[in-house]
Amino acid sequence: MVLWSGRFSKEIDKHVNDFNSSISFDNRMYAQDIKGSIAHATMLAKQGILSEADKDAIVAGLAGIQKDIEDHKLEFDPNAEDIHMFIEAELTDRIGDAGKRLHTARSRNDQVALDMKLYFHDEIGQILPLCRELVEVLLEKAAANTETVMPGYTHLQRGQPITFGHHLMAYVQMFLRDIERLKDCDKRILDTMPLGCGAAFGTTYPIDRKMTADLLGFTGISLNSIDGVSDRDYALEMASALSIFMMHLSRFSEEVILWCSWEFKFMELDDAFSTGSSIMPQKKNPDITELIRGKTGRVYGDLMTLLTMMKGLPLAYNKDMQEDKEALFDAVDTVKMCVSTFIPMLKSAKVLGDHMRKAAAKGFINATDLADYLVKKGLPFRDAHMVSGQLVAYCIEKDTVLEALTLAEMKEHCDLFEEDVYHAISLDTCVKERRSAGGPAPEEVKKQIACSKEILSALL
Ligand code: ARG
Repeated sequence: MVLWSGRFSKEIDKHVNDFNSSISFDNRMYAQDIKGSIAHATMLAKQGILSEADKDAIVAGLAGIQKDIEDHKLEFDPNAEDIHMFIEAELTDRIGDAGKRLHTARSRNDQVALDMKLYFHDEIGQILPLCRELVEVLLEKAAANTETVMPGYTHLQRGQPITFGHHLMAYVQMFLRDIERLKDCDKRILDTMPLGCGAAFGTTYPIDRKMTADLLGFTGISLNSIDGVSDRDYALEMASALSIFMMHLSRFSEEVILWCSWEFKFMELDDAFSTGSSIMPQKKNPDITELIRGKTGRVYGDLMTLLTMMKGLPLAYNKDMQEDKEALFDAVDTVKMCVSTFIPMLKSAKVLGDHMRKAAAKGFINATDLADYLVKKGLPFRDAHMVSGQLVAYCIEKDTVLEALTLAEMKEHCDLFEEDVYHAISLDTCVKERRSAGGPAPEEVKKQIACSKEILSALL
């Protein structure tokens, strides 16, 4: 018999029961459900709504249930409607009438809102250290590659020379923002404790919501009981922060895929983090990064599920909202799996600096520097750009590079060229001179690393 069967004259249809049930996926919130119930019972007793003896029986009973679940002595009943009803029914089985008093001044609507917040607060607590580890690996690799010259690309065309360290530090900035977004999301999870909103319309019992919030580590309570049970902004914010994070990881993955190709050969993954082909013996494929790129779509899908699920719901609780769980569980599981695989893959990857340098030596990556050289000799930039472009065209025709031209050939295009041009357009000069704040010069990248380390330790 279900707990709400009072007004019904028939048992629920078996198929409807299965369709309605969420225990197969919400059982993962059992610890949060128990934690919330213990806080609720403690508050009820303090307010004189529940006797001390009942409260003690409830707390001990719930602790026993948690232990039995964790020791695999108690299995979730697939016929229970959800984790909340399962635990309450099990408690009543164990302790009798006191168990039936637990749901006083509470509804599953505020209970599920609480469980979700507690659960995703815990998940953020697991994701943040992974993000931290990821940033640390990047910082380490960046520090080791402040002199590793590579081409900087726009439109996937060689643009200007940078270093691999400089390139990696761009990702550090992205991931630092991701950490900030997740922390911000966590802050809004914790600032409004929903329990005590009841079904959505408050309660006549003299409850102390602030006390429940304190017991559970929240910084405040939801100000409006209707909003308290209807709000899923935190789920949306989290799915959105995770989607942005995956987008960054996917861009990085895409680059790793390119870098591992014979066309680039900028990176080689450790054998333990690559896969082979069932037919082509020579293949070494970057499957991990391809999967991460693929799974990014899945996390976006979770965000879309949540946004779409919420957009037409009248206040307050609607059963549609049960769909929030699988989407967000999937998003957190996917992110944790992706990032924890990506970290050791990146850590063990070999950076092929020689190939990066070779690629940087081609493609007229120093054409801007050649123009800048002429600017320093007094030519307006627009004219210098024209001269440099003409020299590039001349080189393409002669199948050579700018630094291989003779001074006489250069002078044919502009008489401001002098012997020092060769130094000015050498790859190393081009990198070292890019000293603008945030730029690729080794000492600038070292500053970025130091500054990012400070930001990271202030954040986590
Ligand atoms: N399993 C439900 C959910 O996940 C719990 C809340 C049920 N509330 C209700 N009024 N039926 O949303």
